Parts: sequence; structure tokens; C-alpha cells
Amino acid sequence: MLSRKRRREEPPSIHPRNRYAENPPDFAQLASLYPSFEPFVFFSRSGRPTIDWKDFNATRELTRVLLLHDHAVNWWIPDGQLCPTVPNRSNYIHWINDLLSSELIPATHGSDHRIKGFDIGTGANCIYPLLGASLLGWSFVGSDVTEVALEWATKNVESNPHLLELIKIRNANDPFSLGGFTSSRRDITNESNPDLCIEENTQPLCQDLKEPSALDPPVLVGVVKDGESFDFCMCNPPFFESFEEANLNPRTSCGGTAEEMVCPGGEKAFITRIIEDSVVLKRSFRWFSTMVGKKANLKFLISKLREVGVSVVKTTEFVQGQTARWGLAWSFIPPSKDFISSNTPMRSQISFTLEGLKRQCGAFQVLKSMESFFLDKGISCKIDLSSFSMTVTLSEVQVNIAPKNGLELLKAGENQPSKSQCVFCVSLLEQIPGTLLVRWSSSAKDRPAVSGGFNSFFNQLEEYLRKEFSLKA
Ligand SMILES: C[S@@+](CC[C@H](N)C(=O)[O-])C[C@H]1O[C@@H](n2cnc3c(N)ncnc32)[C@H](O)[C@@H]1O
Repeated sequence: MLSRKRRREEPPSIHPRNRYAENPPDFAQLASLYPSFEPFVFFSRSGRPTIDWKDFNATRELTRVLLLHDHAVNWWIPDGQLCPTVPNRSNYIHWINDLLSSELIPATHGSDHRIKGFDIGTGANCIYPLLGASLLGWSFVGSDVTEVALEWATKNVESNPHLLELIKIRNANDPFSLGGFTSSRRDITNESNPDLCIEENTQPLCQDLKEPSALDPPVLVGVVKDGESFDFCMCNPPFFESFEEANLNPRTSCGGTAEEMVCPGGEKAFITRIIEDSVVLKRSFRWFSTMVGKKANLKFLISKLREVGVSVVKTTEFVQGQTARWGLAWSFIPPSKDFISSNTPMRSQISFTLEGLKRQCGAFQVLKSMESFFLDKGISCKIDLSSFSMTVTLSEVQVNIAPKNGLELLKAGENQPSKSQCVFCVSLLEQIPGTLLVRWSSSAKDRPAVSGGFNSFFNQLEEYLRKEFSLKA
């Protein structure tokens, strides 16, 4: 999983509902409780108990005891398989929970409905289903294509009888489903537990798909069964194009075989496949989501999502020690109108100043950061270097869902022209060296169209730039 070193001074915090946000794992306590973990723990130079993050056995044992101690989950993986870190993986689960509970996309079921997720590439570790089921009682289908992943994911479910009913492991690698003509369904009942099925695939949903090439593994289409519906899908994709690329991080050893980490075209190709499949299965999922390892890919993927006409895109940044990863989620379901609120009229101009900018951080760098801010939110923008300004264009849908506090919605004003985009301009004016005025104005035509939610959107931009350039509020 390729990841970039964090550039910002303040990393995004671990999700507030992550149990490790306030209480990071106590290695000394775990060592005293679990003798098998004890040999891996030593004291760092600063006197804190730690483990050797480059030692696969140490990281695997840590994951095992954390899952057991904090989640009552029995777990193991064979040597060399990708070893997940529990606090990091929990962040993705909590973010999905935020999306589901935001009601941004209306729930299609009653409140007593059990949340059902699809984990694309669950791995031998089966970490997301195990966490989602044990933390939140969700049910899951976890798919994979390798024998070892299917065998060990199954074992990991079997070792937890209390989760048996919630997690099904599905073999996506049935070549007969690829052509779109199979109508057979075969469940391989697990010998030791008849309740646990490895399901071989199944009736494809769409018969008139393009013929997939040998390089196109089935991801969702042909794996999701006719008539099935899910609240969400999630994926920690094979990030790399080659195994050499996968071995670039010498600071940790979480294992990972070529099958787990590498696919032709890397994450960009794999996630593009998920996006293409999501178009076909747009009605079968409330939310689609994936993890993204490279920020450059995030921009590409967001523009791809815009092309295919999604109604909502959400992104987040996951804390991953010294490295950054992103969460990308989308839906085709129109955002809930009931959830739209806020009627404050927008001021025609709002502004703030950035003071104390270092010499090397001029208007150009600020413009580039603003561009990242908007593109990350899936909003189109264009820099005009001659006037140090930027034109930002929101689609009608984006006008209606401009984020207020991450997941809140913005109401289009009463005079919103129903089929128009909203265009506004953000300009930078140097007041004195090191101080820039950032001014946001909307054209007279569009001004009445937007509401007070934009003010808070602009506040988010201000906060983002202050963090980027380490400036005081
Ligand atoms: C990076 S690993 C993620 C494993 C686990 N979810 C985690 O987060 O540690 C990617 C997984 O995707 C699986 N995979 C690759 N192509 C797939 C496909 N077309 N359908 C399902 N799984 C696939 C690999 O075998 C591997 O187990």
C-alpha cells in the first residue's frame, strides 16, 4: 500500500469513536496478560514499552491479542499474509458508520434493519467483517480470489461462533461467472460447520456487459447476486503495480503476498473497476467506498466518479502513523431532501486573512492548496494565475449537498434556479508581505442561489489553509 509521508504539521486525528483514540494499546499491560506477546515487548529509549514494527511475528501477535482482548475475536493468519493493524482498520469502519448514520443518503430499510456490508478483498485476515460484526453487529459478505485468503478468512469466522451468522465468505474467482452466462449457484458447505458457507458464484446481475478481459477480475458485477442489496461496500485494494513497489516501506513489516498487494495497473485500475461496477449496481448499494493510497489517484478517481454521474462523493483522510491514506465514498441515490437545512442568506462576499505566511508560501502555493481542497471534495475549480484567483463551479447536486460539518447538508436558497450550476470566485490579494486576503464572491446571477451553509464551507477552507500553512487561527 503506497503511502506518502505526511506533509502537514498536524495529522488528522484518529476517529473519535475509535476505542484507541483516547486509550492507545497498553503494550506493558498486554504483555503481562498474554505470555505469548510478552517476548515481543521491549522498552524504547524514551522508556516506553513498544514492539519491533519490522518483525512480522510481533505485529501479528499484537493484532491477535488486541482482537482478543478488546473485541473478543479469535484470530490468526499464516506467515507472510497481510497483517492488519487494528486501530487503523477500525477508522474505516467508523467512517462508514458515520456515512450510514448521517442519513445523507436515505436508508432504504426500517431502523431495525441489520446493516449489511460487502468487503471486496477481505483477505486471509478478514479484518473488516470481524471488526464490523463485533463492534457494530453488522453482517457481511467478504469476497476474495485466492485460496489462502478464502481458507483463512473462513477459519477466522469459524473460530468465532458468535459471528458465524453474520459473516459469509464468497469466492469471487469463479471463471464461469465472468462471461455473464452462468446461472448456477453452488454453496460449498464447510465440513466442520454447516452454517458456514464459502459461496461460489452465482448469477450475474447484468447480462449485457462488455466481455471482461482475462486481466479483469470480477469485483462486484458477477459477484453480487441477483436481488441482493447492501448498505455499503468497502475495499482495501491491492495498491501496487509491482511487488518491488510494495516493498518500499522498510519501517514496518505487516507482511503481504503479491496476490494481496499487487494487481495490474495498481489501485487506480482496481478502483476504476469498482467504479464501473458501481454504475451497473447503482441500485444494489446505498454507499460504495474504497480506501485510496495515493493522493494523485484520488483526484483521478473523483473525476471518474463525476463522469459516471454519481450524486454524492465523500472523502476522508485516515491517520496511519507517519503515512496518509484516503477514504473515498460515493452513491447514486439522490440525497435526502428532509435532511437539507439552513436558510441563512449568503453574504455576497466573505473573506479572511492568512497572516504570517513564510516567504516560500506565496499566493501560488495557497492557490494550489485551495485546488486540492476543492478537488478532494469532488468540486471542479480552475486557477487563473494572471489574477491569482480561482473559479469554483458547483453542480446543482453539489449546491444541495455542500458540506457544512463533514456530513451535514446545505439547503439551496428559495430562489435557486433549479437547473443551474453555481459559480463563484475565490481571489487572493497580497496585503503586506506574508499576509494574504482570501476573498470569496459569487456573481450577481448566482448570489441568491446559495444559503448560509456556504459560509461554513468557506470556514472549512479557512481552517484547511491555516493547517496547511501552520498558521494560528
Ligand atoms: C490489500 S489486501 C486487503 C486484505 C484485507 N481486506 C485488509 O484490509 O487487510 C487486498 C485483497 O484483495 C484480494 N483481491 C484481489 N482481487 C480481488 C477481486 N477481484 N475480488 C476480491 N478480492 C480480490 C486479494 O486477494 C487480497 O486479499
